[in-house]
Amino acid sequence: MSSQTLRDARTYEETESRKIQEGQRPAFHLSPYIGWMNDPNGFSYYNGKYHMFYQYYPYDCVWGPMHWGHAVSEDLLHWEHYPAALAPDAPYDRDGCFSGSAIELPDGRHLLMYTGVMKRTQPDGEVLDIQTQCLAVGDGTDYQKYGQNPVLDASDLPEGASEFDFRDPKIWRKSDGTYRCVVGSRPEDGSGQILLYSSEDGFHWKFQKVLIANGDRYGKMWECPDFFELDGKGVLLTSPQDMLPEGLEYHNGNGTLCVIGEYDAETDSFTEQKHQAIDYGIDFYAPQTVVMPDGRRVMIGWMQNWDTCSMRMPNQPWFGQMSLPRELSVKNGRLFQKPLRELEEMRTGKVEYKNVPVSDLIQLNGVEGRRIDMELTIAPADAERSYRKFAVRFAQNEQYHTALSFRPEESVLKIDRKFSGSRRAIIHQRRSFVNTRDGILKLRIILDRFSAEVFVNDGEQVLTATLFTPQEAKGISFFADGDVVMNVTKYDLM
Ligand code: FRU
Repeated sequence: MSSQTLRDARTYEETESRKIQEGQRPAFHLSPYIGWMNDPNGFSYYNGKYHMFYQYYPYDCVWGPMHWGHAVSEDLLHWEHYPAALAPDAPYDRDGCFSGSAIELPDGRHLLMYTGVMKRTQPDGEVLDIQTQCLAVGDGTDYQKYGQNPVLDASDLPEGASEFDFRDPKIWRKSDGTYRCVVGSRPEDGSGQILLYSSEDGFHWKFQKVLIANGDRYGKMWECPDFFELDGKGVLLTSPQDMLPEGLEYHNGNGTLCVIGEYDAETDSFTEQKHQAIDYGIDFYAPQTVVMPDGRRVMIGWMQNWDTCSMRMPNQPWFGQMSLPRELSVKNGRLFQKPLRELEEMRTGKVEYKNVPVSDLIQLNGVEGRRIDMELTIAPADAERSYRKFAVRFAQNEQYHTALSFRPEESVLKIDRKFSGSRRAIIHQRRSFVNTRDGILKLRIILDRFSAEVFVNDGEQVLTATLFTPQEAKGISFFADGDVVMNVTKYDLM
């Protein structure tokens, strides 16, 4: 039995979404059925299809009482909107169904685990969110909240952990058939920690240990954890709030963090080794991963950042996009990300130029577009003498452009969307250290109407940014101060 709140949301999204025309959305990045979308939730493979749920407020393009939106895909690139899966309609989640995850149960049911939010007035009059972990079970379309919710509450917290910051469970099943989940938490030091819980059946949970403590190193509260083994390492992904900058690795505000270390599956212990940002651009947060049937681990993030949500198109009927699905691997203690390889099947209209000399501003016939996949290799024309700067501009016309520029002497790549049409005083530029090999820099730039994702050196780094530039601005140009020789391969993505 679904509630009136859920039925209302389903009716609303079904009728209102018809007003959004095809060209008004990204083509192969998931956007909400209607209204507002934040974090990916419940990213899972179930009954032969990929399911993506998301933090959702259908009634407006701003954050509101959280529902779970739902979309389904066979290839992670073409998404079909399904009716909303969860609404804030139970006493323990009446103020929001916050982020969580999903898994297929051995009996074939789909289990969702999420954070229920209930506001409570404190003795001093302050109203705070009580956050608990809850379950819902379903068939891929309709979900029933579990009768014994919440399954984890304040009584399951270690000493000193806050009941107001206890959210975003990510569940997985171990090879022995038992279950684990990680949950973001705020300990006494006011920063973040990730708690590990275990269960025999997915329904009855107990506290296991603090998997990893922030200790005030990387921002404050750690949101949306994901934890998995990859290429022989343990990998923790999390999105810290309130970060301080550190060189060009971490930036002020909401950020992303990947911790790579040793994981002992016997004792569920994790020893930290390396730390890095997940994405080096502007708009990427709260990613979640899924394992494909062939074993690939694929990540999708919210292609937005809380600190930059004020940049949007006027009268846009939706807000928020998901990133491309990115295949993950760990090499030499670093997280690598590559666009899902099936994206290449969407390529058409190949245009290729080899050994193009660039020492000024140039444009190349046939190299333009706003739904494209473009590979560049950039090298100094003279191995003995470096150039000073290389730049590529895209989403360009007389008025607008977004630029990527590289200065080999500093080894810094910058993305700059200051001229993309934004009318807000927010961050529009970001710089990142990148590597060159024998002086060569490789870039793969993927545009999908309202975004740019830049994969550097076969996935060693990614820089992601949203752009709300009018679609007519589709020019691309190249520039060098000094002498560069460049290869360009460009495809349209259909
Ligand atoms: C992260 C987050 C989560 C929370 C959700 C609420 O973006 O703050 O911690 O569950 O958004 O929408």
